[in-house]
Amino acid sequence: MRRADRTAGVLMHGTARSYSGLQIALHWVSALLLVSLVSLGYYMTSLAKGAPGKAALVNLHKSLGLTAALVIAWRVIVRTRQPAPPSIPGLHCWETELARITHRLLYMCMVVMPLSGYLGSSFNQYGTRFWGVPLPRWGWVDNALQHLFYTLHGMTAYLLLGLVVLHVAGVIKHQWFDARRCVQRMLPGRGERAL
Ligand code: HEM
Ligand code: HEM
Repeated sequence: MRRADRTAGVLMHGTARSYSGLQIALHWVSALLLVSLVSLGYYMTSLAKGAPGKAALVNLHKSLGLTAALVIAWRVIVRTRQPAPPSIPGLHCWETELARITHRLLYMCMVVMPLSGYLGSSFNQYGTRFWGVPLPRWGWVDNALQHLFYTLHGMTAYLLLGLVVLHVAGVIKHQWFDARRCVQRMLPGRGERAL
């Protein structure tokens, strides 16, 4: 058995028994970053143009957003190499399918959010700094394109929020109403016992 397989707790035929420690760590780090970014994003856009401290908050948001992009890229790479464990036993078919679609859409939002933010700020006059280091611009000053990418950024944030609510509601339902060990699947050292 390969080392990566052992850490993912892989059964025969390439099926994982549980999420690996790395997958669990990346899940919680990216969730924390996303919650902070959404809160910061809505707070900074609620401030008036030119309000004291707004520029610093926007720069913090951009740097944190790009840091999240690196964590998310790592997470996606790990996920393509380490499969997810089989779904929670005893669920209805539609629940398993809904969870699978929700997870896919969550991954899609996690990719679109930083990409649309970076593209939006590549088409305005301010550009992007990553923790103080100016990054190459992917575009030129163009209000229409900036507006397009920021609109995509804002709409995807709504979709992400809706999906997170659905995701957490699903976890609560399986954990407490169906009395399954669901949260344990994303906690270190408890995944295998959760099945
Ligand atoms: C921004 C917030 C969150 C995002 C973006 C997120 C995203 C995801 C994704 C994409 C998966 C699928 C993992 C995979 O198959 O590779 C997952 C699984 C999971 N998440 Fe979250 N999550 C978030 C917050 C939470 C919270 C707050 C909880 C706890 C209530 C939670 C509990 C779980 C559990 C238990 C699983 C495993 C589900 C299963 O295997 O059936 N997540 N999450
Ligand atoms: C996963 C990463 C990210 C999340 C979850 C996120 C979330 C948000 C949210 C919720 C808003 C408020 C949207 C609104 O009021 O319509 C916002 C605004 C903004 N974000 Fe992000 N963001 C992320 C990454 C980035 C990145 C990487 C950049 C740029 C490098 C960026 C640049 C901006 C800018 C400039 C705004 C203000 C847009 C405007 O004035 O309409 N974001 N973000």
